[in-house]
Amino acid sequence: MNIQWYPGHMTKAKRMMQEDIKLIDIVIELLDARAPKSSRNPDIDTLANGKSRLVLLNKQDLADQSVNQKWSEYFKGKGILCHAVDARRNQDMKPVMQLIEQACKEKTERDRARGILNRPIRAMIVGIPNVGKSTFINSFAKKACTKVGNKPGVTKGKQWIRLSKNVELLDTPGILWPKFEDPEVGLHLAMIGSVNDDVVELYALALHLIEFLQKNDCNTLAERYNIDVTGEAPYILEQIALARSCLKKGGEADVDKAAKLLLDDFRSGRLGRISLESPETEQSE
Ligand code: G4P
Repeated sequence: MNIQWYPGHMTKAKRMMQEDIKLIDIVIELLDARAPKSSRNPDIDTLANGKSRLVLLNKQDLADQSVNQKWSEYFKGKGILCHAVDARRNQDMKPVMQLIEQACKEKTERDRARGILNRPIRAMIVGIPNVGKSTFINSFAKKACTKVGNKPGVTKGKQWIRLSKNVELLDTPGILWPKFEDPEVGLHLAMIGSVNDDVVELYALALHLIEFLQKNDCNTLAERYNIDVTGEAPYILEQIALARSCLKKGGEADVDKAAKLLLDDFRSGRLGRISLESPETEQSE
């Protein structure tokens, strides 16, 4: 399947991010916990060079908890603090604040040694579209929200949200782009709903999802739809169509409708907590 990627406005987004990044101390990178490899921007290490880092595995509620844990360890092994969150939950924000301070500890101590005492840590959220950046900023800001006005000369035109005595967050996230060239990345991002469905062939995508679930011994299809899951993917999709009364006129299975239903069930967590990627299959880094 050939998935068409994000359009030209990504060039503008990249330029804006490069400008914003100069103003901040810490880059908070949001990844989709179901596919951290595919939802990670390939250039982020270069873009965030010299900045403190924190990786958040968002939508943790939709991913396998034990795999979330493995990813956290994977990033920690690379010297990057990592934590799994559900950006919709205010209570998930508290540990994030502590992690920001932990990640910036060296810098704060350096400032202190130079006599700079009250300079807050400036943070910025970055991530690919639909990963939950706006949701995260809203939840995080709700915790302790005071908008800090423009700071002429230093941060012209920028809005900062003061999160605590020590931390300020830029209120506009940096929009990143995924790895365009790897077909598996395209598939995974389409499965989790990060690529507009208008440019994706849902039938083929549903077959990929079924094959993935079969390969990974997930019992979820049999459990949810009460069907026989021993055949090939097209046969199983047909079974789902029949089980869920996705029928064309004349009673024939409507597999396109079933494909949409299956993908909706997966994306909303109704098939259970499923991770598409784990660090064990991660070879390129
Ligand atoms: P963005 O700014 O990075 O583009 O993402 P945004 O916050 O708009 O979030 C995209 C969708 O993901 C939203 O769903 C949002 O509610 C959902 N979302 C964000 N964080 C989490 C999370 O931790 N867990 C779960 N389960 N969902 C989360 P939406 O408004 O329904 O939009 P859509 O999915 O219909 O496009």
